[in-house]
Amino acid sequence: MFSGSWRITVLSMVTNMHRIAPYVLARLLMFCCASLLAESSVGQSSYDAARGQALYIAHCAACHGTDGAGHPGTFPPIKGSRMVTKDDATNHMRVVLHGMQGGKAGGVVYATPMPPFGGSLTDADIADIIDYERSSWGNHGKPVTAGDVAAQRRKSQ
Ligand code: HEC
Repeated sequence: MFSGSWRITVLSMVTNMHRIAPYVLARLLMFCCASLLAESSVGQSSYDAARGQALYIAHCAACHGTDGAGHPGTFPPIKGSRMVTKDDATNHMRVVLHGMQGGKAGGVVYATPMPPFGGSLTDADIADIIDYERSSWGNHGKPVTAGDVAAQRRKSQ
């Protein structure tokens, strides 16, 4: 009696194999793709590029230009800026959080100050903007995370 129903279960599993197999395969594929994707974002910038660009255009482009070139003598370029391409992003985060005046960006003294954004933008916003600046117009700076910005915010408060 028991062995009979057991045999039926095994039999139905075997006969249903062709129906189960594609499902199992699809799940396996999904799992592999997901872990591959997660793997490939480690070490690379995993920031939201579209968000970074939109925020940059809304808050920074008026002075620094959509092309990151700034306005000679009035607003410094972000494109090719030493601060923005340097691996250590401490100063980059500090400037965006707290602003800057008389800082001699790229060796030039600017009469206009750089406004602070720590009060109006979140850590995630600032990280996305910074990563956008660090990976646009030929810039290759090490990206930051919202956690890095939060830590910098705490340190310089
Ligand atoms: C009202 C104009 C203005 C706006 C808006 C503005 N900046 Fe600036 N920014 C400046 C000025 C002026 C300086 C140079 C200040 C100095 O040298 O003292 C500067 C400097 C900088 C620097 C340093 C560049 C270097 O090479 O040292 C960075 C980085 C920067 N700004 C990023 C941003 C970001 C990111 C935003 C938007 C969230 C932004 N700025 C918005 C005017 C502006």
